[in-house]
Amino acid sequence: MDIQDLIIDDRKRGVFRVHRSCMTSSDLFQRERELIFDRCWIYLGHESEVERPGDYRRRTVAGRPLFFVRGKDGQIRVFFNSCPHRGATICRRDAGNAEVLRCFYHAWTFNTRGELIGVPRREAYGPDFDPSELGLKKPPRVDSYRGFYFVSFNAQGEDLVTYLAGGRDYLDLVVDQAEEGMRVIPGSNKYAMKANWKLLAENSLDGYHLIPTHRTYVDYMTGLGTDDSGDTLAARPPGAGRALGNGHCVSENIARNGRPIARWHPIFGEEARERIARVRERLVQKYGEDRAYRMADTSRNLLIYPNLLIMDFVAISIRYIEPVSPDRMKVTAWHLVPREESDAALTTRLDSYLTFLGPGGFATPDDVEALESCQAGFRATEAEWSDISRGMLTPCPGTADELQMRGFWRQWHANMQGLDTTDVQDGPPATSQAAAASSEAGDPGHCRTGER
Ligand code: FES
Repeated sequence: MDIQDLIIDDRKRGVFRVHRSCMTSSDLFQRERELIFDRCWIYLGHESEVERPGDYRRRTVAGRPLFFVRGKDGQIRVFFNSCPHRGATICRRDAGNAEVLRCFYHAWTFNTRGELIGVPRREAYGPDFDPSELGLKKPPRVDSYRGFYFVSFNAQGEDLVTYLAGGRDYLDLVVDQAEEGMRVIPGSNKYAMKANWKLLAENSLDGYHLIPTHRTYVDYMTGLGTDDSGDTLAARPPGAGRALGNGHCVSENIARNGRPIARWHPIFGEEARERIARVRERLVQKYGEDRAYRMADTSRNLLIYPNLLIMDFVAISIRYIEPVSPDRMKVTAWHLVPREESDAALTTRLDSYLTFLGPGGFATPDDVEALESCQAGFRATEAEWSDISRGMLTPCPGTADELQMRGFWRQWHANMQGLDTTDVQDGPPATSQAAAASSEAGDPGHCRTGER
C-alpha cells in the first residue's frame, strides 16, 4: 500500500481511519526511525536529574545509546554512549556520579567534557595519535525548554521552541505550578508491552476508554468521596481534546479528582486543606485568575510528539515511550514535583501515581491488556482499518472524542511522506500558510475546556 493511502481523512464526511499495517509493518517501523525519530526533537531527560557535577543518566533515544552528565562548570552535556576506541558502552549504569568516565574494556578515560584524558600504554601509539580527535561524540543538536532536554539527530531543521508549537504553553502550565521550580525525584518505573508504540501515544490521550476500561478505579475513587466541586470522577464533563501543531496534542479535563494546588480531595487528608488554598491563592496573585484556573483547576495529558507524555493530574508524571519493534515498546515513567513541596504532599502525589498509573496500579495493567489485545487483534489482517473518527464533526471535541489522536496521526502521516508541517486540525484542509499559522498558534483557541 502507498504511504499516502495509509490514512483516510475525509473531513467532510467525518471519517478518519488508520490502516493497521501502521502498527505491524517492519518497513514502516524502519521508515518511522528515519523520517520521525531521526528528524524530530526527541526527549532525553530533565535537568534536575543531574543536579551535582558528575551526575549522569543513561538513556536510549531514537535507538541510540546516550548519556548526559553535568560538568564541573555546571553545564549539561550529552554524549553517545559508545567508546571512540572500539565501541563499548562507557556508561554502564542508568544513573550515577563520576569525576571521570572510564571505559571498562581497555580503560580509556574521559572527563565530563567528553575529552579523552587517559590511555593505558599510550607510548605504543604512533606520533599522529591525537587524543583531541578521540573525545566522546555528541548528537548534532541538544536544546532544552524549561528544564526538559531534547536531542535531535538532524543537524538542520527548526529550533526546539518552534518545534514545540502549542505544546510550549502547556509545558509552561505544568512548570509554572511550582514556586521554586520543578524537580524529577530519583527513581523511575519501567515496563514493557507487546504492542506498537503509537497505541500508547493514542491511549495516553484517550478519554473515551476511561469509564469502560478503568471502571474499577472510577468506582474506587467515587467511593472515597468528592473533591471540593462536589462532583465525582465519573461525572466529569467532556473536557477538551486539542491538536497543538507539529503532532503535539493534549487531552484537557476539568479536574474531578482533586489537585494538590487547587482542589481538596479526601485523599489529601484534612490537614492539607489550608495548604492547598494557599497555593491556589499564590497562583492567582502571580498569574491572574484565568491562567491560575488553567493551571490549578484543569488537568492534562500532554503529548510532545512523537513519544513524550506529561500526565498532570494529582501526580505529574513524565512518560517516555521507546519503540523497540513494530509490536513491542518499553516505557519509563518519572515523577515531577514542585521543589518546595512538603514530604506529606509528595507522599500523596506518589501514592496517587502508584494507585492509578503505576505498573501495578488500577490503570496501567488495564491499559497493557487493552493495547496488547489490539495488537493481537491486528493479526486478523483482513480487518484492515482502525476508526478514529469520534467527534470529527463536533465544533469543540471533548477528551472522549478523538481530535487529539487525529492530530498525532496527521503529523505522523505527513512525516512519513517526507513533509514537516501539516494541518492537524479537523475541518476543511487549510492552505499550507494557514497550516503553518495553526501550528504556531497551537490550537484553534475557540473551545473552552468542557464546552461542546
Ligand atoms: S572499547 Fe573503550 S577502551 Fe577499548
